[in-house]
Amino acid sequence: MNGQTILVTGGTGYIGSHACVELLTAGYQVVVVDNLSNSKVEPLRRLEQITGKTLQFYEADIRDKKALTEIFDREPIGAVMHFAGLKAVGESCRQPLSYYHNNVYGTMVLAEAMAEANVKQLVFSSSATVYGESTSVQYVEDFPLGAINPYGRSKLMIEEILRDLSAADAINGAQSPWKIALLRYFNPIGAHESGLIGEDPNGIPNNLMPYVSQVAIGKLAQLSVFGDDYPTRDGTGVRDYIHVVDLVKGHIKALEALQGEKFKSGGCKAYNLGTGRGYSVLDIIKTFEAVTGRKVNYKIGPRRAGDLPEYFANAELAYKELGWKAEKNLDDMVADTWNWQCKNPQGYV
Ligand code: NAD
Ligand code: UFG
Repeated sequence: MNGQTILVTGGTGYIGSHACVELLTAGYQVVVVDNLSNSKVEPLRRLEQITGKTLQFYEADIRDKKALTEIFDREPIGAVMHFAGLKAVGESCRQPLSYYHNNVYGTMVLAEAMAEANVKQLVFSSSATVYGESTSVQYVEDFPLGAINPYGRSKLMIEEILRDLSAADAINGAQSPWKIALLRYFNPIGAHESGLIGEDPNGIPNNLMPYVSQVAIGKLAQLSVFGDDYPTRDGTGVRDYIHVVDLVKGHIKALEALQGEKFKSGGCKAYNLGTGRGYSVLDIIKTFEAVTGRKVNYKIGPRRAGDLPEYFANAELAYKELGWKAEKNLDDMVADTWNWQCKNPQGYV
């Protein structure tokens, strides 16, 4: 609803900052809560520059109930987009408790504060990692779930908690029931076309795209391709890469759907956000070289533990029920990543 105030948790992060741009552009008011554990405030200044609008920022942890309650008391919040959380798979295996505390407990505290303030519309950042073993590489929302690392399990646990909350409202006949969209992201990459905001990973990137662009600009010497003996068309891993701006547009569509006929009586529903196309690691390297004219120095290395050979989204449900589909292609994703990388070689400094 135009003019409504949206609380964006994790709004200074990579995806949250892009969501703020879309929300402000669409006429929403925005309140950001972030503890800056993996981000800086600079993206807020820049996104205000992009949109010509301002937002309200609170430096707070979503596990701090008192701080959240004060924010809900002070701001006329109508709905929440919840991006705050830890997201590195490898780190989650080394520090599982931090992941469960930040992600699962953090979401429980947020949900409690929301319920107490009677704000029961929530768009949640889930992930394709919640899918379990499957016979098809094109994931559909009703496939069996089952994560294989603490990060993925934290997302799955949150999904279950939110489903339970919604089911409880149905049992109790709640007057204003929870309306929840669980958005299962595939592989978000790219940056805002202005090059003012983008992904600013701490230290050496874990993910393919930021690694490739840091090799292309000369910050890193060589990319290691994690295995070329997978049962895929060129032997390297295949994923569904989605432009971050398309991804956050899906959040606006989900928010609108929560306020429409479909969720009139409440509910908690999962939607895949992907393009429906898979690209291999070698496809990414070739496209990167073609779009930027830079060489990407790489070598074939061993497989990375825990990686699946191939998966991509079936994104038909989001199209049918939210009226959303991804519009940008791989060339756009690469061009915008490169524009951000060239304009911000050291990230947000
Ligand atoms: P990010 O790290 O850039 O952003 C997350 C933000 O949350 C950061 O600004 C961080 O400081 C903040 N934060 C973390 N814990 C917090 C807490 N307890 N209280 C307040 N703020 C806290 O990550 P991102 O890539 O923008 O991801 C956003 C969300 O999307 C995350 O929940 C992530 O798990 C999910 N997701 C990301 C990907 C991806 O590939 N980037 C894929 C699937 C799902
Ligand atoms: N890869 C390399 N070399 C690298 C990095 C990655 O070859 O240096 C390969 C991987 O093996 C994989 C592909 O590039 O085949 C993509 O890997 P990413 O690390 O970029 O992404 P993942 O698919 O492993 O995981 C990402 C996020 C997770 C999220 C998941 C959801 O990192 O947080 O997408 O689908 F859960």
